[in-house]
Amino acid sequence: MIKIVNLYKSFGNKVVLQGVDLEVYDGETITIIGGSGQGKTVLLKCIIGLLKPDKGKIFVDGVDITTVDKKMLRNIQKKFGYLFQSSALFDSMTVFENISFGLRHLRLTKEELQRRVKLYLSYVGLKDIEHLYPSELSGGMKKRVSLARTIAYNPQYILYDEPTTGLDPQMTEIITDLIISLQKKLNVTSIVVTHDIKSAIKVSQRIALLAEGKIVAIEPAENLLYSTNTIVQKFIKGET
Ligand SMILES: Nc1ncnc2c1ncn2[C@@H]1O[C@H](COP(=O)(O)OP(=O)(O)O)[C@@H](O)[C@H]1O
Ligand SMILES: [Mg+2]
Repeated sequence: MIKIVNLYKSFGNKVVLQGVDLEVYDGETITIIGGSGQGKTVLLKCIIGLLKPDKGKIFVDGVDITTVDKKMLRNIQKKFGYLFQSSALFDSMTVFENISFGLRHLRLTKEELQRRVKLYLSYVGLKDIEHLYPSELSGGMKKRVSLARTIAYNPQYILYDEPTTGLDPQMTEIITDLIISLQKKLNVTSIVVTHDIKSAIKVSQRIALLAEGKIVAIEPAENLLYSTNTIVQKFIKGET
């Protein structure tokens, strides 16, 4: 379980997070929605320990990652898969090399490695593209290869940063369905960050709205559109 308590983060005199409280339950998919520049990515980066908050606590399975040493932090980071906003594949590596990168410490045989890469690609609905380079892939395929690479690390938590932004409606649907099927198949706990309300309602059990540096509302996904919270209503109207 992840528990965030009273989290603050500023850059210079720009205050981004100012008192975020959030609990993420084991096995759920929770979506954080919010306007552009509200600090969604900053929050994800704090959760995974890529940014250090100014104040507040982040418990991952009971351990406060804001106070642990580097070695412990690295161990906790191994629990996480992070799907970056930009796909962040290694351009000079093939799809096979990109996905097997995270498995290199396991010292698997070539055959086993090939089998695993094939398996992870099948999870994201792709096959026979191991030899291709990222530049030869469409945006949607890059996203899916990145997701396959994330899964290869066998994460307990997957953080998705704007997984459908910039994709066409059909690919948005494919990625949305993938997030749902991965949660079922791998039994992971996921945090999705998006400003796409439709996809948020479909993938998640709960939806939290980040505004003015705080989580101002948390609703069961199916209730979001009927929320009586005025900030939620405003956000929905601004989006649709
Ligand atoms: N490393 C950084 N240095 C300075 N400002 C940053 C940094 N990262 C994010 N910010 C600022 O924090 C705010 C929130 O950014 P971000 O979390 O990326 O928003 P979003 O909700 O769109 O993901 C923005 O105003 C952004 O400019
Ligand atoms: Mg962002």
